[in-house]
Amino acid sequence: MSKFEYTIGKEVDLKAEWEKTLQDKGLHANLILRCMFVAMDLIYGKAREIDKFLVIEILARYPYWAWEVGSYLRLTRDYANPNFAEKSESDRAWHHIKLGRKSQDNEQWHMFILEDLMRQKGMKRRFLKHFLLPRFLAFGYYFLTRIMYRVRPAWSFDMNARFESHAEREYAQAVVDHPEWEDEEIDTEYFVYYPRVKTMADLFRRISLDERDHKFESWEEYERITGHAFKP
Ligand SMILES: [Fe+2]
Ligand SMILES: [Fe+2]
Repeated sequence: MSKFEYTIGKEVDLKAEWEKTLQDKGLHANLILRCMFVAMDLIYGKAREIDKFLVIEILARYPYWAWEVGSYLRLTRDYANPNFAEKSESDRAWHHIKLGRKSQDNEQWHMFILEDLMRQKGMKRRFLKHFLLPRFLAFGYYFLTRIMYRVRPAWSFDMNARFESHAEREYAQAVVDHPEWEDEEIDTEYFVYYPRVKTMADLFRRISLDERDHKFESWEEYERITGHAFKP
């Protein structure tokens, strides 16, 4: 039984949950993340616009992929080994593979939907900001989290919880910054993968909640594998 309340796949009062996030002070960001957030603000501006969130989503998938690949390779090492594998180790790897797969799918749906809405709105995509830099950032973020996960998995879960906390609050704050989104009705073919919402405001509220779930999952996994309380 988890101490956290997860909301993915559940009917929730999006506005009530959004209010909770707006009251939340968020998790403390480590130095790496603070540098990343400053770099994002410098490149994409401080304004919370869809193109900036699209880049966040491109990056957000990578820690989950790093856990999946890292655990997959760990199983190869454990099973191609003169010593027999320990079930507890295999269970842990399998748990991280499952967690990584389901979360990277969820981030990917965010990415699909935001990109489609940008297309529908006729928003311009620039070569440097929307093509070259996201690729460069994604490459760096993948290898950073991959190395952290290889050396000490707890580091990666700790940092990811903080990254997701930032994402949760940014999505919630974007709805405050854009009151016009309350009346902006949206539709996308990607709702075949994702819970359908009527307005842009509710889409951002729903994504914010997904990010909260991701934060709690990383937080919970950090505590499970270290046996220590997570420091917010
Ligand atoms: Fe996301
Ligand atoms: Fe997330």
